[in-house]
Formats: sequence, structure tokens, C-alpha cells
Amino acid sequence: MEVAVERPNWAPGDIDLERPSVARVYDYWLGGAHNFAADRAVGQRALEVMPELRDVILNHRAFLRRVVRHLLGAGVRQFLDLGSGIPTVGNVHEIAQGTDPAAKVVYVDVDPVAVAHSRSLLNGNGRVAVLQADVRDPAAVLGSPEVGGLLDFDEPIAVLMIALLHFVSDEEDPLGIIGGYRDRLAPGSHLAISHAGYEADEETGSYRAVRSVYDRDVTPMTYRNEAEFTRLFDGFDLVEPGVVRLPVWRPESPDDLNGSRTPFPAFGALGRKA
Ligand SMILES: C[S@@+](CC[C@H](N)C(=O)[O-])C[C@H]1O[C@@H](n2cnc3c(N)ncnc32)[C@H](O)[C@@H]1O
Repeated sequence: MEVAVERPNWAPGDIDLERPSVARVYDYWLGGAHNFAADRAVGQRALEVMPELRDVILNHRAFLRRVVRHLLGAGVRQFLDLGSGIPTVGNVHEIAQGTDPAAKVVYVDVDPVAVAHSRSLLNGNGRVAVLQADVRDPAAVLGSPEVGGLLDFDEPIAVLMIALLHFVSDEEDPLGIIGGYRDRLAPGSHLAISHAGYEADEETGSYRAVRSVYDRDVTPMTYRNEAEFTRLFDGFDLVEPGVVRLPVWRPESPDDLNGSRTPFPAFGALGRKA
């Protein structure tokens, strides 16, 4: 007998609750409440093959927070958060507007739950917009009323791609996609990326197993090594300390280094457009 999956009132009517989504599995790992049994099952399977995965995820979030604080210190007040996910604690607008209430943020995600939940949280915040779009189409994102209505392209903008590009294969041309954004940015704009990856000789069975779980049950993943990751910053000058493993990107406290198991399977960097 088929058991109907309960559809909570925050779930848009047109989503398939039985099909795991990247955004909702991530929400499960982060301890959020916007996920379903299918998402939790995949998330659990991945944790079984790589128990330290949750720590890796937390490091992506911590990198995001540190990078946004750094950008605020560098005077950036506009943020385009691509693949922003289901809102959780420490979102970009909370950090940015905590420093400067005039800071502006556009969140972009393809996932209907991420977009619906972001919109419901942000209702009434006139300096934040939420766009449902595929980030692989920069012209559509940049040409949208949400982006055009809020961001000023004559001023610096920080484009954030946090834990996103490992879902974009080489065939989908990540360099071309990034170029589509970069070419519209004013000098002084930035690009921040965090990305799953490591060198070939560091690959362990558990890293391979997580990718297999994802490839089979959610969406294909592409891990990139340091050289491949660094190429994503074509047209940007890397900000110190350059390309590093996430925990050692400008750590602010000993806690930031907690995840620094070696080899840490994710890179982070910030680039600046001259
Ligand atoms: C692993 S989550 C990271 C979320 C957030 N950046 C963070 O660090 O917490 C990746 C997000 O990217 C979104 N995503 C993946 N591919 C996308 C695409 N082509 N266009 C827009 N969003 C995408 C997923 O829906 C998901 O919310």
C-alpha cells in the first residue's frame, strides 16, 4: 500500500516530495525543518559513508559568514547570492544588514522550497529580493526585475557561489557561466566560491561514496582539484590568502579551525575584479 507523504503548508504544490533535492538534503544536514523523508534518507546514507560530512557542510557556512564580513569591511554593500539555499541561521542579509541596514541582497535559487521559504522570511524587507532561476543562465538572472530593481551595477557587487559549482559539470561550462556575471560587474566587485574537492591522491573511499550517493539519488556532482578550482577565478585577482582549504580561509577563532582535518575536502577563495 502506498503511504501518502504529508504536504506541509510551506511546501509549494508542484514539488515532488518523494524526489530528494539538493537544497532540502542540505537543510537536513544543517538541522533545518524544511525537508522530507526522501531528503533525510539520502542525507543519512551520505552521513553513513562519510560521518564527517556535516562538519564539511558547516565549514561552507562558516566560510560564507567570514567572507561576507570581510567584504563588508572592504566596503561592499551589494550581494548576489547564487544557489542561496533554504534560509538558515546566519544568512547573508542578516550579516550584511547587521553591519549596514542599507546593504542589499538578492537571493537566487532554482529550488521552489528554498525560494518560497526565503520569500516568506523576507516579506517586508525592501532591500532583499528573492529570485527563482537557474544560475547557469546569467543573462536571465541579471536581466530579471529582482536583480535589476535592487542592485546597482555601477557599484561593486559581491557574487557568492557557496557550495554551488560542484553541481555544475565541466560540460555545462562553469567558466563561461562565471564570465557571464563577471563581465557585467564594476571594478571592485568580488567573487566568492566554496567548492567540494581535493587532489587526486587524497581521494578516499568515503569521498567517492558520497559522490555516488549524490550521483544516483540527487544530482551529479563534480569534485575539482586546486588547479581546476583556481581557474574559476579567471579575470579576478585572488584576495589573500588565495586558494585554500575552507577552514584556513581567514579563520576568526580557534573554532573555525575545528574542521581542519587533512586533507580537508573543500576549497574556498575570494577574487576581486580590478
Ligand atoms: C549545497 S546548497 C548550498 C546553499 C547555500 N549556498 C549555503 O551555502 O548554505 C546548493 C544550493 O544550490 C542550488 N542550486 C544548485 N544548482 C542550481 C542552479 N543551476 N541554479 C540555481 N540554484 C542551484 C540548490 O537548490 C541548493 O539550494
